[in-house]
Amino acid sequence: MAELKLKGIKKSFQNITALKKLDLEVKDGEFFILLGPTGAGKTTTLRLIAGLEKTDEGEIILGDDLINSLNPAERDIAMVFQYYTLYPHMTVKENLAFPLRSKRRHFTEEEIEERVMKAAMTLHIESKLDRKPTELSGGEMQRVGIGRALVRDPRIFLMDEPLSNLDAKLRESMRSELARLHIDMGQTFIYVTHDQVEAMTMGDRIGVLNEGEILQIGTPDEIYNKPANKFVATFVGSPQINLVEADYLDGEMTLTDFNKVITLTDTQKKILNENNIKKVICGIRPEEITIVKNEEGKNCCTGKVRLKQSMGAEDILNIKVGEGLLKAIVSPQLKIKNGDDVILNIEMSRSHLFDFVTGEALR
Ligand SMILES: Nc1ncnc2c1ncn2[C@@H]1O[C@H](COP(=O)(O)OP(=O)(O)OP(=O)(O)O)[C@@H](O)[C@H]1O
Ligand SMILES: [Mg+2]
Repeated sequence: MAELKLKGIKKSFQNITALKKLDLEVKDGEFFILLGPTGAGKTTTLRLIAGLEKTDEGEIILGDDLINSLNPAERDIAMVFQYYTLYPHMTVKENLAFPLRSKRRHFTEEEIEERVMKAAMTLHIESKLDRKPTELSGGEMQRVGIGRALVRDPRIFLMDEPLSNLDAKLRESMRSELARLHIDMGQTFIYVTHDQVEAMTMGDRIGVLNEGEILQIGTPDEIYNKPANKFVATFVGSPQINLVEADYLDGEMTLTDFNKVITLTDTQKKILNENNIKKVICGIRPEEITIVKNEEGKNCCTGKVRLKQSMGAEDILNIKVGEGLLKAIVSPQLKIKNGDDVILNIEMSRSHLFDFVTGEALR
């Protein structure tokens, strides 16, 4: 059992509050992602779990054990870092065997050999075992870094942006390899990243962290389609969700800069009426804006294409509507060009409403 619970964790460094009050439960066997911008407190969280830092307050519970006061070696947790922490003078094989040679572990040479070979095969580096780290590519080095965690067969794996130093192509292939590895091993992974694509593609669940606080925990689908607030909504999705100011008066919503009256769903109206809200931020994902032939739809308006960015499989349009700008993802088959006048339709039923002041989702 390697279920992990963090309860009311607080951590400050001198006058800097790194974690305000963190509550988190990671299920046994889960691939849990901690996603957040720089300085959010991601590494601090991992270091507290690993025992490399002490909590100011709160409990860390692994399985049935309160592990707060255990030292790192006693916790049986392995951590993979952003920067490869390989010993340059040792071969790959020696690097992999090193964590097993600690006096505390009492492994025989046969056991060490077996574990090293198993990790090497899992990570497809069995042909590199006699090389020194300088003779490896970045991706191979990071595989060895992960291998050093694997050999120990720990209760839980912590990974701190292990792919961020790899080039885009390698990062993509390592993403699927890690996700596959997790499925094969069935172990608990806690993986830290600021990359929303990594989070969305690898995680069973994602915890979005900002300024030492968890803003939302959910599956990738929940985080993307039911963001708890404006911050979460803008942090996932590329291009970013369009955030548009809107006024709500007498049951009618107007997108302020676009001077466009929008038809809301009954549920959306009900929420705004019940909360007596007059001003909102409307969040519209670029894929919820479609280009149409005529203005028959409820939420159509006209605009001019300021910039088209071709992505191959899709085009991103920056469309000027009134005084506002909207990003839309459309099919290249439409063959839209810079400067084109277009009619667009906004799928309001899939858009999000956020409180103008707090940014919290209105549901
Ligand atoms: N040892 C330390 N001494 C002082 N301040 C620290 C220390 N470690 C972290 N901090 C501060 O705590 C906050 C959280 O840092 P942390 O390293 O956890 O962020 P992060 O989310 O991992 O960011 P990044 O994405 O840049 O790695 C930051 O403001 C950071 O400056
Ligand atoms: Mg960090």
